[in-house]
Amino acid sequence: MYGLVNQGIQGLIIENYGSAIWEKIKAKAGYEDVTFLASHLYDDSVTFSLATTAAEVLDISLENVLKAFGKYWVLNIGKEKYGTLMKSGGDNIIQFLKNLPNFHSRVMLIYPNAQPPEFKVDVINENTIHLHYYSSRIGLTDFMFGLIDGLSEFFDAPCSVNHLNHSETEITYDLFEIIVH
Ligand code: HEM
Repeated sequence: MYGLVNQGIQGLIIENYGSAIWEKIKAKAGYEDVTFLASHLYDDSVTFSLATTAAEVLDISLENVLKAFGKYWVLNIGKEKYGTLMKSGGDNIIQFLKNLPNFHSRVMLIYPNAQPPEFKVDVINENTIHLHYYSSRIGLTDFMFGLIDGLSEFFDAPCSVNHLNHSETEITYDLFEIIVH
């Protein structure tokens, strides 16, 4: 994945735990001398190893690292660094979710070699969306939970999220039911 993602983990850790802990995580994961560059492509294993090492060093579950990262991605990286892009997705959470299937095609104008997830949306009623997530990667379902949580806060729209389906084969598939209150 693009270094932007690794930089995101770096930002999450530094803002919450400080630079010394980040340096410790980076060294333990084997990337002591690496400076992550946003537009450089890194193997996915780099990102996964940073996340699992962060969980070990901080003594929290990988699930909680990925959820916190998803929330941080929307509320810090998205909102602060890509505000115009976030705004182009819609004025409220329902509209944003309806547009999510096209969102990463705009991301790909900036990061042309990204392999983003695919989304499909079913509108159940005016408050309820079924969001289908397809990824060529395994293990990012908890990241999705954090992203949805971040969107709920971003749009100031309290939501309930039900996990209706999950499968991991060569790809990951999840079905989230998002009810906006
Ligand atoms: C301005 C905001 C956003 C930007 C700039 C952005 C950009 C990116 C980039 C560069 C990647 C890495 C892909 C690669 O390098 O191969 C990625 C992955 C991903 N994005 Fe976004 N994204 C944004 C918002 C969102 C939102 C709102 C969601 C969903 C609610 C989302 C879901 C994901 C997921 C789940 C992945 C992990 C890849 C996978 O599942 O296979 N992103 N995004």
